[in-house]
Amino acid sequence: MTNTLSLPRSVEWEETHITLLDQQLLPGKVEYIELKTIKDVWDAIVTLKVRGAPAIGMTAAFGLALAAQQYETDSIDEFNELLQKDKDYLASSRPTAVNLFWALERMVNSITNVTSINEAKTTLVHEAIRIQVEDEEVCYKIGDNALSLFKKDDRVMTICNAGSIATAYYGTALAPFHLSRERDIPLQVYACETRPVLQGSRLTAWELQQSGVDVTLITDNMAAHTIKTKQINAIIVGADRIAANGDTANKIGTYGLALLAKAFHIPFYVAAPLSTFDPTIASGEEIPIEERNPEEVTHLHGQQIAPDGIAVFNPAFDVTPNELITAIITDRGILKGNYQEGIQTLFNN
Ligand code: MRU
Repeated sequence: MTNTLSLPRSVEWEETHITLLDQQLLPGKVEYIELKTIKDVWDAIVTLKVRGAPAIGMTAAFGLALAAQQYETDSIDEFNELLQKDKDYLASSRPTAVNLFWALERMVNSITNVTSINEAKTTLVHEAIRIQVEDEEVCYKIGDNALSLFKKDDRVMTICNAGSIATAYYGTALAPFHLSRERDIPLQVYACETRPVLQGSRLTAWELQQSGVDVTLITDNMAAHTIKTKQINAIIVGADRIAANGDTANKIGTYGLALLAKAFHIPFYVAAPLSTFDPTIASGEEIPIEERNPEEVTHLHGQQIAPDGIAVFNPAFDVTPNELITAIITDRGILKGNYQEGIQTLFNN
C-alpha cells in the first residue's frame, strides 16, 4: 500500500514576487508571506523565515532572479554589474551553508552566453526554477538511499530540521521518514528539540506529524538517556557544508550526537545533496561557523530567561569530524570509508 504525501512547499516563484512559508510562525500558524524585493529576501534568510541549506540556496536564487527583473538598463555590462552586486548582497546573509553560494554562482554562470537583456532575465528565472526542480528529484533519491539503511520498526534520532521545508520537497535527513510513510514501513523517529531556536520541536515534530510519521520529541539533553533506554538504532542528520575530507558542518548539537553514536556503537548518518559539498576546502577547519544574536539564548519567545548582562556564546553550527560519520548519503549513492576519495570521485564524475 502507498500513502500520498502532502507537505507544504517552503518557496514558490510567482513572477512578480516569491511566496514563502514563514517558518518562524510554525507550528502555531501556517502563513505565507510575499517577498517583493531583494531586501525582503535577504531579511527572510537572516531572520530564519526560510532556513535549511537547500532552501536558503533556492530562495536566494529566486531572489536574484526577482532583482534582475527590476533592472532598467540597456547595457549588458551594467546588467552584469548590478547582478554581481546583488549576488554579493544575498551571499552576505548567512555564512555557513554552502548551498547559498553554490546557487548564486550557478545563477550568474547561467547567463554567460546570453545575447540580450530580455534573454538574461528569462534565463535567470528558468535557472532558479531548475534549481528547485532538481532539488526535489535529488531529495527523493537521498530518501530512497537512506531508507535502504533502515529496517522496519527501527528507532532513529535526528536533530534540527533537514526536512521538506528545508529543501524543495522531501528533505534530506527526513526524506527516508516521509518515504517510509508513503511505503507503509513503520519507523519511529526521536526528534531533538534543537535549542536555541527549536527547529526540532517547531519544525521537525510538526512536519513529521503532518505526514503521519511516528515522532517523539525530546529536549537536547535527553539524547544519551533516550539512546540507551529507547534502544535507538541509528542517528541521521542533514548538513550545511561538507569539506573535501567529509568533515561536516550541521546544526549545533550534531557533533555531540555523533560522539554519542560512537559511545553507543550505533551508526551516525549524514544525508546531503551534492550542492552541500564544498570540495574547495580541505577540512572542516575552514568552514565558517555563524554566530548569531545572543538573544536567541537569553530569550525564549520574547521572554528573558537569563540574567541581564550575561556573556553568551551562540554558534549556530558545529563540525563533526569525518571519522565519526558512518556514511554520507547522497542522491548519487552512499559514501563510506575513505571520504576524501569518495568525494573526489563524485565530483570528477
Ligand atoms: O540554522 P538552520 O535552521 O538553517 O540550520 C539548518 C540545518 O542545520 C540543517 O540540518 C541543514 O541545513 C540541512 S537542511 C536539509
